[in-house]
Amino acid sequence: MPNSNSKRIAAEKAAAYIQDGMTVGLGTGSTAYWAIQEIGKKVHNGLQIKAVATSVQSEKLAIDLGIPLSPFSEIAEIDVTIDGADEVDGMWNLIKGGGGALLREKIIASSSKELIVVVDESKVVDRLGKFHLPVEVVKFGYELTRRKLSALGCEPKLRLVDQKPYMTDNGNYILDCDFKQIAMPSECHDAINSIPGVVDNGLFIGMAAKVIVGYKDGSVKECY
Ligand code: 5RP
Repeated sequence: MPNSNSKRIAAEKAAAYIQDGMTVGLGTGSTAYWAIQEIGKKVHNGLQIKAVATSVQSEKLAIDLGIPLSPFSEIAEIDVTIDGADEVDGMWNLIKGGGGALLREKIIASSSKELIVVVDESKVVDRLGKFHLPVEVVKFGYELTRRKLSALGCEPKLRLVDQKPYMTDNGNYILDCDFKQIAMPSECHDAINSIPGVVDNGLFIGMAAKVIVGYKDGSVKECY
């Protein structure tokens, strides 16, 4: 169970937007965890929703909490998705993928009427890029893909777990790219995604409809 009250209060505030009849996207990570917990409580108390999850981890949590999951074939559009972020700038551009779920998160966010981003205050930045940008790449020839990424002015490192390459839910690798600062997020997003071998990157440009920030002092700020 993640231990951060500022994440929890932001997530709980976001869960208040979920209403009967909605199709809800469940994010991934320690902040989304609290949103899923809160949605689980509401479902237990009679809230009628359908949900889709952005990772195997969140899917398991939803099942444990009795949140009904629907196959994508039965879903035309998602009403609201609640998800965390690793960085949020003043234009609400995001870096996501610290938890490795960026591709499924982006697929679901792009099919959502509203993406509500829930973060603690540490995630709010003037400029993106201190957090190393996760880039999901196919395994084949990833060393070549890494070289092409370096040419964009970053230092990409293969994400490892227990000294072995981390594998996403989609069976791909993650290269965490240290750009120091990302001056032009939209251009950077497009340049990365034009490299063969790249599946997607963790820049979410103009996708957030609301950002809810939880603070250490217990206050929550909603930005529309
Ligand atoms: C997972 C994500 C997460 O939303 C992001 O890493 C933030 O995680 P946390 O809420 O645990 O700080 O993008 O791929």
